[in-house]
Amino acid sequence: MTYILGSDHAGLKLGNFVKMYLESKGFEVIDYLPQNDIKVDYPDFAKKVCKEVLNIKNSKGVLICGTGLGMSIAANRYSGIRATLCLDAYMGKMARAHNDANVLCLAERISGIGEVESILEAFIHTDFEGGRHGCRIAKIEDLN
Ligand code: RB5
Repeated sequence: MTYILGSDHAGLKLGNFVKMYLESKGFEVIDYLPQNDIKVDYPDFAKKVCKEVLNIKNSKGVLICGTGLGMSIAANRYSGIRATLCLDAYMGKMARAHNDANVLCLAERISGIGEVESILEAFIHTDFEGGRHGCRIAKIEDLN
């Protein structure tokens, strides 16, 4: 599994932590983190990450901004991307089990490092349950 990682300036500190954490667990990480903390626009980074997730087989994305909200809105504009803002481990687990999320959105201004570790662990180690949830995902792709 390759993780594609991006943030804006408000998610950069947490982004650096997530990069280190995922690499320490043996995952390949491609990062689109900003080079410094100068203010940037989160949709630019959501775009880079989502395009890579759609291009690279066996990959998932992690997007971080201040609240995780802007990144979620931007990422979900892409067909085939299912981005979920997760604020605790239960959300991290259910995002995978029921929603087959392929982009995890995190909130640097809300979530502490310990909480983020538990969210990442739940997200990484939970498989999609399929079945009735698969039909619902298909319906999402049919919207519009
Ligand atoms: C940046 O100030 C902030 O608006 C952004 O990181 C994010 O929280 C937007 O949803």
